[in-house]
Amino acid sequence: MKFIVCNNYQEISKKAAEIIADVIKAKPDCILGLATGSTPVGTYKELIAMNKAGDISFKTVKSYNLDEYYPISPDNDQSYRYFMNENLFNHIDIDMANTHLLDGEAKDPDAECKAYDKAIEAAGGIDIQILGIGRNGHIAFNEPDEALIAPTHKTGLTADTIDANSRFFESADLVPKHALTMGMASIFGARKIILLANGASKAEAIKELLSDEIKTSNPSTLLKLHNDVTIICDKEAYGE
Ligand code: F6R
Repeated sequence: MKFIVCNNYQEISKKAAEIIADVIKAKPDCILGLATGSTPVGTYKELIAMNKAGDISFKTVKSYNLDEYYPISPDNDQSYRYFMNENLFNHIDIDMANTHLLDGEAKDPDAECKAYDKAIEAAGGIDIQILGIGRNGHIAFNEPDEALIAPTHKTGLTADTIDANSRFFESADLVPKHALTMGMASIFGARKIILLANGASKAEAIKELLSDEIKTSNPSTLLKLHNDVTIICDKEAYGE
């Protein structure tokens, strides 16, 4: 596992965008694994700027997002589909048909999750997966627990995550209590993973990533088992 410690959020965003741009340049029809949340927004801004400047093109790129609330409509401004359209897809030359998110309105969520894993596999697997990290160490919506789930699945959100995400909703009651999320195996299927973290609220979780331990009470520590993971964080998250 490699650590890149940056001076500030902008540096994290630039570094992450450079790594993603290199993957796109090397393989114009690559598959991106994308994340929502506040952390990758700066990276998406950098990618938009590179696309507008003609440095990279998304015309043949496909994307699969990590997760989506359940239940939620794609038109709800708190859905992750809405977030991705607003923060990235509407501003780049990607074909919307090539952008994939789990369906927050799926009648049969289990079938939806199974089909999602199959679709990623059929597309050839994710070339680069972008991850944020919860302050409790969650990645995607794989929350701390005694056991973690390997494939994409429906899950309940912890009180901590509902509390953290309530900043985007009018009140905590309105935060959906469930989500569909890529599982640990789905994430580990990516050939390359970058995890972005900024701010002191992530320092506890990152400290455990820096230790030698692997534990399901901090799902991000399992990333130590993957052979191509880069953590890009600022000094506050690194604990300096
Ligand atoms: C989002 C996701 C979550 C976030 C995490 C950090 O798709 O899967 O695991 O990455 O909750 O969120 P922020 O970046 O808002 O601190």
